[in-house]
This record gives sequence, structure tokens and C-alpha cells, in this order.
Amino acid sequence: MARVAIVTGGSRGIGAAISKALKAEGVTVAATYAGNDEAAAAFTAETGIKTYKWNVADYDDCAAGIAKVEADLGPVDILVNNAGITRDAPFHKMTKDQWHQVIDTNLTGLFNMTHNVWGGMRERKFGRIVSISSINGQKGQFAQSNYAAAKAGDIGFTKALAQEGARAGITVNVVAPGYINTEMMSTIPEKVMDQIVGAIPVGRLGEAEEIARAVTFLASDDAGFVTGSTLTANGGQYMV
Ligand code: CAA
Repeated sequence: MARVAIVTGGSRGIGAAISKALKAEGVTVAATYAGNDEAAAAFTAETGIKTYKWNVADYDDCAAGIAKVEADLGPVDILVNNAGITRDAPFHKMTKDQWHQVIDTNLTGLFNMTHNVWGGMRERKFGRIVSISSINGQKGQFAQSNYAAAKAGDIGFTKALAQEGARAGITVNVVAPGYINTEMMSTIPEKVMDQIVGAIPVGRLGEAEEIARAVTFLASDDAGFVTGSTLTANGGQYMV
């Protein structure tokens, strides 16, 4: 029986690569997106993967969206919490809005999504939760006190929930990518980008497909003994 997956932020960047890789494994995928209708329509046209629009920062939106996906595709077996944003600023300039937008999406979004699939996974005694953290949640990053706090929180969330899911056949894992060649990098000034690439031992940015391969492994039926783990994929930039 084909598994059903939701990939949040699944129509662009790392999320799009994850959606496609899961589909290639025979999984029925629903990709969510928050705002870019044009990119979502193009993604569906290219891949045949259905897209759904909602804000992961809003609990009720998540509940309604997941109910719709389940009505269309069946119960959700795999959840990939990928949706994430940056609002970088040195702390002395960071606004309350920049703080809350990032925490609400990148951390509370995990609660909002996972809480709405958890009951069904417990009942069916199977589930795969894979969240996307970041190297910057592991090592910190100048101008990212909001983002680093949220991404470090994603790792703590995973370790706690893995303990609760273990006896119910639900694994909970997190992937911590380094700097990946996506649109998110476009906000980084060129001078800073040169320094970043210089600090990556493999000498290049990662590709979204390289993160997708890590996620498809953790999401597979075969990965049942792997839970509570942080899979670091950063070209050797930070070793934990
Ligand atoms: N370490 C130390 N100092 C730094 C720094 C760093 N990494 N980056 C910038 N600075 C310094 C600058 O040299 C400058 O100092 P001077 O004024 O003495 O020259 C100062 O900080 C910049 O201060 P400003 O007040 O001018 O800063 P700003 O308000 O213009 O903000 C910035 C600029 C937002 C920090 C910008 O430099 C930036 O975007 N930096 C990149 C931050 C970054 O790497 N984000 C990661 C994004 S990728 C991601 O998030 C995905 C993932 O998971 C890996």
C-alpha cells in the first residue's frame, strides 16, 4: 500500500526536492505552500504532485488542511516539517515581528502540523516525522538569534517526541542541512556568501537533492530503528 506524505513548504527549494524524491519512492505526496500560487501551480504542472495552501504557523489552518489532504489522499503516514523562513537581523535591530514570524513558522509550525497527525499515527501504529533543522540551530549564526533558537528547538522537539512515539511505531528524526543552493541564499550579501563557501570543507554549497536523499531514508519503512536522531548534512562545515 502506498504511503501518504505531507511535505510542508514542499513546492520550492529543499521541500520541492523532498516531494519529488518521495514520489519517486512510490509515496503519494501532498506539498503545502504558504503564498506563492504561481510557483505551486508550476510545480504541480511539472511533477503531478498536488499542492495545498495553508500557513503552518496557524493551528486551525493546519487542522483544516490536513483533514482535506486525508479526505483526498488517505491517512498521513509521513510528515516532513520543512517549511521555514529567515528574517535575519543583528539582535539590536531585530523587531518583535521578526522574532515571532520565525518562531511561529520554524518552531511552532512543527507543533501545529505534528499535533494534527499524531493521533492518527498512534492509532495506526505507524508514522514517520522528519523535520528540517539547520546547521545554524547547532552552531548559532550572526544575525539569526530568532532562526537559531527555532532550529535548535526543532532538535529538542524531535528528541522528546521520539521517546513518545517509539512504542507506537512512530519515528521522529531531524535533518540539519548546512548551506544549500536554494532561493533562501539569495538574501545573503555576496561578500558574506564568499566567506560561507570558504568555510565549507567540501568547497561548495549542498544541493537540495542531497538533503532529499537523507529525508527519504528516514521516511522509509526500513528506517524503523532510527529515531530521535539528528542527521547532519553540511559538507563538513560543523561536526557534531
Ligand atoms: N560575523 C561577524 N560579524 C558580522 C557577520 C558575521 N557573520 N555578518 C555581518 N557582520 C558584521 C558586518 O561586518 C558589519 O560590521 P561593521 O559595521 O563593523 O562593518 C555588521 O555586522 C553589519 O551590521 P549592520 O548593522 O550593517 O547589519 P545589517 O542590519 O545591514 O544586517 C546582515 C546585515 C543581516 C547581518 C547581513 O550581513 C546578512 O544577511 N548576513 C548573513 C546572515 C546569514 O548568514 N544568514 C544565514 C542565512 S542561510 C540560512 O538561514 C539557511 C540555513 O539554514 C543555513
